[in-house]
Amino acid sequence: MQDVLMDPKGVGPAIHYYMLRGGVEQKNTTVWEPGTISGEYIKTYGHYHIGELSENYSIVFGQGVALLQKLMEDQQGNLLADQVEDFRAVVVKAGDEVFMPLKFGHLVVNTGQTYLVTIDDSPVDFEDRDPVSFPGHADYELVKQMRGFAFYVVEDENGQPALKKNPLYKSVAKTDFGGLRVLE
Ligand SMILES: [Fe+2]
Repeated sequence: MQDVLMDPKGVGPAIHYYMLRGGVEQKNTTVWEPGTISGEYIKTYGHYHIGELSENYSIVFGQGVALLQKLMEDQQGNLLADQVEDFRAVVVKAGDEVFMPLKFGHLVVNTGQTYLVTIDDSPVDFEDRDPVSFPGHADYELVKQMRGFAFYVVEDENGQPALKKNPLYKSVAKTDFGGLRVLE
């Protein structure tokens, strides 16, 4: 997780989140620890899907923020890691569903005082070399290269979630912050 934290030297739990991978049939369950690391709420690493794959997440316990971002492409169709075409933050709580559309990288942040638990329907490729940590359908490199998404979800001075821009991104064309403040 140090690769993608706002503060890579920040102190946090040894494990930030746990996953039970069941795939399309059994579904995948993710459980987040509560808390912050140097002010940034605990989150999943974040990834883009390889190929034509969307995903549905159901929030079954707790509260959080889902971040979605779609990268710009050059004329050859290569993704530009530091240029975002469309960034969205979605505030979620138990009972909500979030759809991760094609081409949108995604991660989910726990902004509550309890565990956050979600169920999703992502396929699991058990033939891949390391399917448990890094399933074959997901690209984590673009996120690693940029030290996370275009915004971090941080705790503001009132203990509320807010967004903070990741300075490594060159541009973010379209934004929907879902009602969250953006801190300077
Ligand atoms: Fe995914």
